[in-house]
Amino acid sequence: MRPASDLLAAVIPARETWRRPERTCEDCGGTGWLYDTANGVLTGRCQCSQRPLEDRQKAAGIPVLERRARFDTVRPEVRELAGRLQRYLDATNARRGPGQSLLFSGPVGTGKTWLAACAANWALIRGWSVVWRKATQWLADLRASYDADSRTHELDVNRPLRRAKLVILNDLGAEKISPWVATQVEDLLDDRISAELPTIVTTNLSHEEIREAYGDRTASRLGPRFYRHVEFTGADIRGSR
Ligand SMILES: Nc1ncnc2c1ncn2[C@@H]1O[C@H](COP(=O)(O)OP(=O)(O)OP(=O)(O)O)[C@@H](O)[C@H]1O
Ligand SMILES: [Mg+2]
Ligand SMILES: [Zn+2]
Repeated sequence: MRPASDLLAAVIPARETWRRPERTCEDCGGTGWLYDTANGVLTGRCQCSQRPLEDRQKAAGIPVLERRARFDTVRPEVRELAGRLQRYLDATNARRGPGQSLLFSGPVGTGKTWLAACAANWALIRGWSVVWRKATQWLADLRASYDADSRTHELDVNRPLRRAKLVILNDLGAEKISPWVATQVEDLLDDRISAELPTIVTTNLSHEEIREAYGDRTASRLGPRFYRHVEFTGADIRGSR
């Protein structure tokens, strides 16, 4: 079980996340902020004024392998999709409207998690608070927090997921689904929708299967009104290597 302070570090811009911007930085001119002159908006904090990216990725819960994911090095097959995703994040970043959430669905090994990781790293580089959770791990953390001798409270587990500017819920549907699980998922999605905070959910399930597994309420929240659906197709990338 990770300490709550570790989880909180991912979402609250703690003092340690800040460093004094480098006076000679060519990217930000020493201000610590990146500015998009074409659109006249601040686009985020400069790297030079942040804790090292690796630390923030770790605090956000991004797995070691996925810390390398970047939009500009994706496979050619998904380059166009990556470009669209990046434009969508840019729009959210510039606060043009609430964050659009995304549902990445498709068979095993089609690149859903990798592209979600590109988005998470893109956002972290820009100083967003990001939380990455594998659905099974999140639910296990929640269950563990109910133990009488647990030092973590349910709220410690869920608070980062409810506050972060971007949440990646990876591999939804891999867990054993009970009414309790369905309620947890529905609550989380609901809270983030109400707060107009973007979430990226990856799953092997189709929308129909989501409805069967989690019920109408969750399926409705993951519907097209709040979640843009991105279908991943193709052969298993892992198998072709
Ligand atoms: N666009 C990409 N560019 C470079 N490597 C990629 C890309 N997409 C996937 N990969 C590689 O292929 C592996 C499998 O992709 P990924 O984990 O994203 O599949 P997935 O669709 O999430 O599968 P599953 O449904 O089993 O979770 C990744 O770990 C990564 O190494
Ligand atoms: Mg995956
Ligand atoms: Zn700088």
